[in-house]
Amino acid sequence: MTRDGLVLAIETSCDDTCAAVISRDGEIRSNVISSQEVHGRFGGVVPEIASRHHLELLDPVLDRAFADAGATLGDIGLIAATRGPGLVAALLVGFNAGKALAASRELPFAAVDHLHGHVAASYLAPARLQPPFLSLIASGGHTLLAEVSEPGPDGMRVLGETLDDAAGEAFDKGARLLGLGYPGGPALERLASGGDPEAFAFPTGARMPGLEFSFAGLKTALLYRIRDLGETEAQRRRADLAAAYQRAIVESLMLRVRRALRTTGASRLAVGGGVAANGALRSALAELGVELDVPPPALCTDNAAMIASAARYVPAVAFPGYLDLDVYASGERALGSQ
Ligand code: KG4
Ligand code: ZN
Repeated sequence: MTRDGLVLAIETSCDDTCAAVISRDGEIRSNVISSQEVHGRFGGVVPEIASRHHLELLDPVLDRAFADAGATLGDIGLIAATRGPGLVAALLVGFNAGKALAASRELPFAAVDHLHGHVAASYLAPARLQPPFLSLIASGGHTLLAEVSEPGPDGMRVLGETLDDAAGEAFDKGARLLGLGYPGGPALERLASGGDPEAFAFPTGARMPGLEFSFAGLKTALLYRIRDLGETEAQRRRADLAAAYQRAIVESLMLRVRRALRTTGASRLAVGGGVAANGALRSALAELGVELDVPPPALCTDNAAMIASAARYVPAVAFPGYLDLDVYASGERALGSQ
C-alpha cells in the first residue's frame, strides 16, 4: 500500500451501480459494475427505478469491491463519489453513501465531476497519457470535445458539445427504430457488422462549421428512410441500415475530431464514454495517426475506477467540510467552457 492509503470511489450517476478501489498511482485493485437490466423494458432509464436499485445494489457492490481488492475500510485514505452531472435521484444514493462512509472514519472526501472521470480513465495504469491532449467524450448523456491542459478539473476547457442528442443517444434511438433493445449501442454494432455501410447515405453535419455536434437530424433521416422502404424491405435491409447509420455517427464524430486536432495543433487524443467501446469508431480513430489513448471498453463505459482516478486530482475536502455538499444534475459542472 502507498503512503496515503487506497482510493475508494462510488459512481451512481445513471443506471450502473459502481464501486472501485485503486492505488494512488492508478493501479486498479477492484472495479465492480452492476448494470441494471430492468430499464430495458422501458426503452430507457427511469430515474426513480434507478435510484431504488442503487439503494439495493450499493452495499453488495461495495462489499465486492473491498473483497476483490483484498482491502478493508481501514486501508482507504480517500473516498470519492460522482457529484454530477447525472440523474439527481441516482447521484444522491452514491454521493451520500460516500460521504457517510468517509465521515464514519473522518476520512477526506473528493466530489468528482462525471465528465472529468471519463477523461481520468486515461490516467489509470497501465495506459498512461498525461496532458496536454485533446479529449473526445461520447456517451449516452454527453458528447463533447475538450482541450486538457492539466489533470485536474480546471485543466479541462470544453471546445464543443452536442446541440441536441448525445452520440450514445443517437445509437440508442436508432437501435429502437430498428427494433433492437436498450442499450442500443452494442446491439446496433452487432447488427451493423453484417451490413454494408455504403448502402445508404445518412447526414453527418459536414456543412455545420465549428466543433458542435448534432445528431437529431440523423435519427429523423433513419426514421424517414425506414418509412420510405416500407416494412418488408426495411426489415430485409436492417443490417445495411444499421451499418450506414453507425458509419454516419462515427463520421460525424471524426469530422469534428479532425477539425479540433487541426485548430488546436494537439498531437495527442484521449477518447472516453460508452460510445468509445464501438469497434468502428476505434478503427477510425486508430487511422488518425496521432498518439491515441482509448481505454479498454470496460473503462470507457461508466465505472468507478475512472472516478477514483479523477479523485486523485481533485482537492480533497477534510472531515466534516463535505457533509453539506450537494449533487448537481447539469449546468453547474466544475469544468471550463469557452
Ligand atoms: O458512458 P456510458 O456508459 O454512460 C453515460 O454516461 O451515458 O455510455 C452509455 C452509452 C449508451 O448510449 C450506449 O448505447 C453506448 O454508450 N454504447 C455504445 C457501445 N457500447 C455502449 N455505442 C456504440 N457502440 C458500442 N459498442
Ligand atoms: Zn458516462
